Amino acid sequence: MSDTAPLIKIEGLHKSYGGVVQVLQGLDIEMTAGDRVVIIGPSGGGKSTLLRVLMGLEQIDRGSITFGGNPYISAKSGKTAIDAKVRRSIGMVFQHYTLFPHLDVIGNLILAPTKVRGEKKADARERAMALLTRFGLAQKANAYPAQLSGGQKQRVAIARALMLDPKLMLFDEVTSALDPELVAEVEQVILQLAHQQMPMVIVTHDMWFARNIASRVIFCAGGVVVEDGPPEQVLGSPKEERTREFIERVFHIKH
Ligand SMILES: Nc1ncnc2c1ncn2[C@@H]1O[C@H](COP(=O)(O)OP(=O)(O)O)[C@@H](O)[C@H]1O
Ligand SMILES: [Mg+2]
Repeated sequence: MSDTAPLIKIEGLHKSYGGVVQVLQGLDIEMTAGDRVVIIGPSGGGKSTLLRVLMGLEQIDRGSITFGGNPYISAKSGKTAIDAKVRRSIGMVFQHYTLFPHLDVIGNLILAPTKVRGEKKADARERAMALLTRFGLAQKANAYPAQLSGGQKQRVAIARALMLDPKLMLFDEVTSALDPELVAEVEQVILQLAHQQMPMVIVTHDMWFARNIASRVIFCAGGVVVEDGPPEQVLGSPKEERTREFIERVFHIKH
């Protein structure tokens, strides 16, 4: 796939909860395989909803999403059609760790590849160890989630998602619940993935991280895209008043 053809194309995406709360109200977003898209916007604005839709976890009301030029998600006569094969090629890490507490780190990593894909245990373990080594977690292979710091848990969660060779990674405020001193180790792992050309969509309130990782920044509010452009423009000199207000407020909170 070329770097400029759209990897993801979202058109006219509408999403409500129970037909009452209109969360996404006609969202259009295109991203290429070379993009690292950072989404910013007010709390309750639908950022998590958008990522959950992209992950194939939600019903939609209207609109369509293509992946690599092929249909991925669409809404036809009130029913959401999702291509399960595409869904399996997308990885997601959430704000709150979702590791299996009863499995050690290596067990968490090899579960899906062995159960879902039928990979041989020995092969999966080998790949898992390579990933853990790369993330500086080799010595934690047999630790249980409860024995890990928040930063280590998030790095394990990222490694676990990578075990399924995703073609796109989604990160939803993965450092928001961490103590400040643990944020950098998680962001470094994501930056490493970015340098290896992993396409990603990231929701973050960390402006340093956004500036350093984004090829594009999208400001979403009121269920639509308000502004979409390179980080220096959207974060540095936003065109829209709503973007400017939001960025000033976030910076103000941070300083
Ligand atoms: N499962 C749900 N059921 C009903 N309403 C929801 C659900 N999830 C989110 N919402 C509502 O949808 C809106 C957008 O939420 P969310 O996508 O979490 O925003 P953000 O991630 O930008 O803070 C909020 O008003 C929220 O209360
Ligand atoms: Mg959210």
